[in-house]
Amino acid sequence: MKAIIYDNIRAVQWVDGRVRLLDQRLLPHEVRYLDLSTSAEVAAAITDMVVRGAPAIGITAAYGVVLAAAQRYGESAERWRQPLQEDMDTLLRARPTAVNLRWAVKRLSVIIDTLKIPPLEPLLAQAKRIHAQDIAANQRIGTLGASLLSRDSVLTHCNAGALATGGYGTALGVIRSAWAAGKINKVYADETRPWLQGSRLTAWELLQEGIPVTLICEGAAAALMRERRPGWVIVGADRVAANGDVANKIGTYSLAVIARAHGVRFMVAAPTSTVDMDMPSGDGIEIEQRQTDEVLTMQGKPIAAPGATAWNSVFDVTPASLVDALVTEQGIIHNPDTDKLKRLMNASS
Ligand code: MRU
Repeated sequence: MKAIIYDNIRAVQWVDGRVRLLDQRLLPHEVRYLDLSTSAEVAAAITDMVVRGAPAIGITAAYGVVLAAAQRYGESAERWRQPLQEDMDTLLRARPTAVNLRWAVKRLSVIIDTLKIPPLEPLLAQAKRIHAQDIAANQRIGTLGASLLSRDSVLTHCNAGALATGGYGTALGVIRSAWAAGKINKVYADETRPWLQGSRLTAWELLQEGIPVTLICEGAAAALMRERRPGWVIVGADRVAANGDVANKIGTYSLAVIARAHGVRFMVAAPTSTVDMDMPSGDGIEIEQRQTDEVLTMQGKPIAAPGATAWNSVFDVTPASLVDALVTEQGIIHNPDTDKLKRLMNASS
């Protein structure tokens, strides 16, 4: 009998020399792809949330560097280096919190530094390698994370799925693998205000794969933990600091606090490309602040009382002490700390 593979969604593709993005602002009501041919369009698409999720924006930015180099192809060395650097800087500024973006751009810029003409083939090969390695890492994370589950129900937050990565997903990779192995009996997802990544994206993604999902408002998580006793909260990460602190979608920290208060275990699933060993702790991670309209309105319609203001800090930092398991493609770290992360990252470099 053929194994069921729950992996049919691709948010980012390289097609005929252009970057094809599934426009995540329109999901779940419309499935529309945008084909982008300049790095400026790619940077804008990242800022505007056409594509989102730490690994997915890293991969998209890598393809964006290829487009930037293609735009400069044929110009003399004195003329292409500076503008290409400016294009890369624009990509780097597109979103500040996810370290995957700078990790991916850096992997391409080291190739650029060694060559005299914009090196199109090696850059494209590297971008495709980053993409393929991310999918492979997520499949491994899925297998490792699923090994920690045993007929549990789980709660996830935001969207850390195929839509947020090269494919398969991190937190949803664990859920895909565990579902296929019969190790999950129910999936709960936070709706995830204000962008509704949970109710729009995670629910769509899981249902596309035939995995049932039950949505809750974030405010219901404590009651859910007390009344329905999920085994695990499983989330992704935008950046894991060297001491194991985790920056992820706003609301993750609250979930970790209430999970600990209810004896529910807390799993962070992330590839090593999300680990930032240059960042000693979560205190130094830049947290993206977005427009307050995202809180005050919903899908363009005003919902707040006129005159109310809002604080729209879109990520938070969960201290390592609240993380029971950090699952990477290089292995599982229980109760992460600086020494354990150093050992893992040294072994993988
Ligand atoms: O603002 P977003 O939608 O880009 O935030 C995404 C998240 O917080 C994800 O949990 C994180 O990037 C991990 S994706 C595998």
